[in-house]
Amino acid sequence: MCGIVGIIGKNPATPLLLECLKRLEYRGYDSAGIAILEQGQIDRYRAEGKIVHLQTLVEKSNPQGTVGIGHTRWATHGVPSVRNAHPHATDLVAVVHNGIIENFRELREMLEKKGHIFTSETDTEVIAHLATEYLNQGESAKTATQKTLQQLHGAFALALLFKDKPDTIFCARRGSPLAIGLGEGEMFIGSDALALAPLTQKICYLEEGDWAEIGKTTFTVYDETNQSVTRPIKQTALTGAMIGKGDYKHFMLKEILEQPAVMGDVLHAYSNPHTMDFAFPEFPLPFEAIASLRIIACGTSYYAGLTAQYWIEKYARIPVTVDIASEFRYRKPPLPKNGVALFISQSGETADTLAALQYAKDQGQTIIGMVNVPESSIARLSDVVLETHAGPEIGVASTKAFTAQLMVLACLSLHLAGKRSLIKEDEKKDLFQALLAIPEAMNQLLLEESPFIQCSNFLLDARDVIYMGRGTSFSIAMEGALKLKELSYIHAEGYAAGEMKHGPIALIDEKVPVIVVAPSDSLYEKTASNVEEVIARKGQVVFIGDKDGIHPFKDKAAITLEMPKIHAFTAPLLYALPMQMIAYHTATLKGTDVDQPRNLAKSVTVE
Ligand code: M6R
Repeated sequence: MCGIVGIIGKNPATPLLLECLKRLEYRGYDSAGIAILEQGQIDRYRAEGKIVHLQTLVEKSNPQGTVGIGHTRWATHGVPSVRNAHPHATDLVAVVHNGIIENFRELREMLEKKGHIFTSETDTEVIAHLATEYLNQGESAKTATQKTLQQLHGAFALALLFKDKPDTIFCARRGSPLAIGLGEGEMFIGSDALALAPLTQKICYLEEGDWAEIGKTTFTVYDETNQSVTRPIKQTALTGAMIGKGDYKHFMLKEILEQPAVMGDVLHAYSNPHTMDFAFPEFPLPFEAIASLRIIACGTSYYAGLTAQYWIEKYARIPVTVDIASEFRYRKPPLPKNGVALFISQSGETADTLAALQYAKDQGQTIIGMVNVPESSIARLSDVVLETHAGPEIGVASTKAFTAQLMVLACLSLHLAGKRSLIKEDEKKDLFQALLAIPEAMNQLLLEESPFIQCSNFLLDARDVIYMGRGTSFSIAMEGALKLKELSYIHAEGYAAGEMKHGPIALIDEKVPVIVVAPSDSLYEKTASNVEEVIARKGQVVFIGDKDGIHPFKDKAAITLEMPKIHAFTAPLLYALPMQMIAYHTATLKGTDVDQPRNLAKSVTVE
């Protein structure tokens, strides 16, 4: 989604703005721009496509101004183009904005009647004109900002630069995150701390409804009632180095290969390998009192929730429902008294998940937030925060954050089972050992790339690909299909293996690859029967299982991919990896943009 940066400093702002914008590239965007205060005027540079186009444009003028704002735009209102790219500006004010101004049509109409001339199709442009209107009425930059904010409806973050207030940037947060970075004699703003990581580690997060006036050495934050407030300054652990790509061709590959280590970190955070106990924060409700659990998330995080449904129902005997956040919020479901809702989100900023969380909160639910970004909005709104400890995930396709979510959820399932006295010591030990075996099994699997490349070559010319699995492999099949779609643009769907005969089997012919996720678990035989049905209809099967599992299909499947032997409980963690690797290699073979696939954003902060 859109990214915002701002610098008010002592050195030329342009190179730093461009560097920060590059760090926001991972969020997904289709145009970019900066505005610099230079010799008493606002100079704008905007380009469609990648930041490198903007860089080429800027280099021609080489602006030296020390105050500026920048933006990466993910199109919502208006096509990706130079004229729709941010910053939007009048002669007096420039603005960058993330989110949606819901009442922009009325505002635009009102301003046009007053003679304002608009040059873009965006909702953002009304902000610059509205602030200008207040300046024309004689208001100061600060009051113009305040009055403009009062007029805007929607969820957004923004930054404003005023021609006649060269020592200040104004910014605001309403629904979309915004961070202020504190430097030595310079200040920064950014949509997230990652963007600011190379510049400073001292970060102040604006809270919901806040707006701020930022100078070179000081800043003042106001709450939604315009009272000056103090917000904590945090030392972030992020550094510029942490988000580098190293020697890897893509962030995605780096992040896939980090998974064995991430698994170790999650286990370390939530368990004690010596005592085989789990360590979770205290829940406001006694575990025995949890009558049901609602899990709500989007995309890959939703598939983590679906997997956990099997685990929590089986081991902790708590009924679990899993909802896609974007639908949950519209159903307005009745929620039980003393209910618990778990929201899973890598970014912690997904607009649909946040809105669903707010609904559950308003209904008196205890909120558990499972996030990878501890300073995120979801974390701040949750009663209990479960961090996934995957480290910054930059590739738009979620990989290590997914398996980290799975690992936390697997530990949570056993923790709940233990607290509710539903698991015998022997079984707990057995399952605990299975969790401990995951980092090594992942390592072993990732040693050899060629089996995945062989699968990817096989998929290259496919128009449609079907993924199938049963039980916890069903959600992994859906995750595999999502990964393939988003990275390679090949149409793919994940089906429950048992559901194939109820319709999707009609799709099978010799042109349709069918990827089967079939660990050796209690459902293996049933899945194997469904695979036979596919093969009987000339389906081209890629069978993924362990040595024993693939054996019967060695001669029947187009490809068999051998996995390390693994406990059935932890199979989803390991079987997620071929899903990622196959999608990754298919994308690289097709030459698509692996880390920033077309049309996608890392953190989806609009509805
Ligand atoms: O940050 P979140 O986990 O809330 O994001 C949810 C989805 O947008 C995300 O998982 C998306 O589906 C990824 N692109 C999947 O790779």
